[in-house]
Amino acid sequence: MVEVRSLARLLLLPVHMVLSVLKAAAGLVLPCRVRDLSGDIVLITGGGRGIGRHLAREFARRGAKKIIIWGRTEKCLKDTADEIKLIGTDCSYFVCDVGNREEVYKQAKAVREKVGDVTILVNNAAVVHGKSLIESDDDALLKSQHINTLGQFWTTKAFLPRMLELQNGHIVCINSVLALSAIPGAIDYCTSKASSFAFMESLTLGLLDCPGVNATTVLPFHTNTEMFQGMRLRFPTIFPPLKPETVAAKTVEAVQKNKALVLLPWTMHALVILKSILPQSALEEIHRFSGAYTCMNTFKGRT
Ligand SMILES: NC(=O)c1ccc[n+]([C@@H]2O[C@H](COP(=O)([O-])OP(=O)(O)OC[C@H]3O[C@@H](n4cnc5c(N)ncnc54)[C@H](OP(=O)(O)O)[C@@H]3O)[C@@H](O)[C@H]2O)c1
Repeated sequence: MVEVRSLARLLLLPVHMVLSVLKAAAGLVLPCRVRDLSGDIVLITGGGRGIGRHLAREFARRGAKKIIIWGRTEKCLKDTADEIKLIGTDCSYFVCDVGNREEVYKQAKAVREKVGDVTILVNNAAVVHGKSLIESDDDALLKSQHINTLGQFWTTKAFLPRMLELQNGHIVCINSVLALSAIPGAIDYCTSKASSFAFMESLTLGLLDCPGVNATTVLPFHTNTEMFQGMRLRFPTIFPPLKPETVAAKTVEAVQKNKALVLLPWTMHALVILKSILPQSALEEIHRFSGAYTCMNTFKGRT
């Protein structure tokens, strides 16, 4: 009996897969269900500047109820919060280093008491040391893993349980295409992003049977913020950097449409396909041609 059921499931698998692909394709052209953000309390780590600040703006413009931003530099946080309040959205800030587990748990408690239950968590904060393994200071290597990867463990552990109780929540990770295709000269960053990608994959699948709670991973290409300032791109006209406002808009749209994975720009899907079919020597030619080997030589890091 069990074997008959397993066989039936096996036969139905391709049918379910085809239906899922058709549903996803239809979602590209037909209007789909869009999350109304008016009841949402959104927390953005690294919300004081860069992509994080644009995310705060975008969530506010699209009607989020309250926005909370975390970061290490009070001035940036205050400036962003003041700007968001001018849009007419309640915005509070907390100084919090996401690499410090005790501080994350302490500030998460303060957020719950002072603002309420977070229903959308955006793990955006990150640093880049930007050196080769041999040139890197050990503490700097540890710091980027603590902030970029482990920081997400602590923030997610702090807010996910209540989302599961409420059956209402969304965890977002601003990752990077470098999680899928690493470059030399930023070994700390690429490792932390690949690790964070696995964290999100595992988390997303773990949420399959949790109604009302979902996850989104965003993988942007080089974006015009302070993070990679000084990096030399070989063909900036062919591969121009993304605008942080575009990354923010696409991210909020993905949350509202409940998309699990977003590559920015969408042409980056070609990278994933090429990586899985080409031999290493051919991939090395692409890296040589694009200048990815040497683009970090002029880079000073952003910690
Ligand atoms: N720029 C790019 O080319 C690019 C491309 C792909 C993906 N990304 C990703 O996009 C996200 C945002 O990057 P960005 O370009 O906006 O960089 P950014 O301008 O350097 O901003 C980084 C943000 O993270 C915060 N932050 C850093 N360490 C923190 C810590 N320990 N605790 C709390 N906040 C911390 C910073 O604030 P404080 O310094 O005040 O703490 C700042 O608000 C990152 O995850 C990055 O990896 C960026």
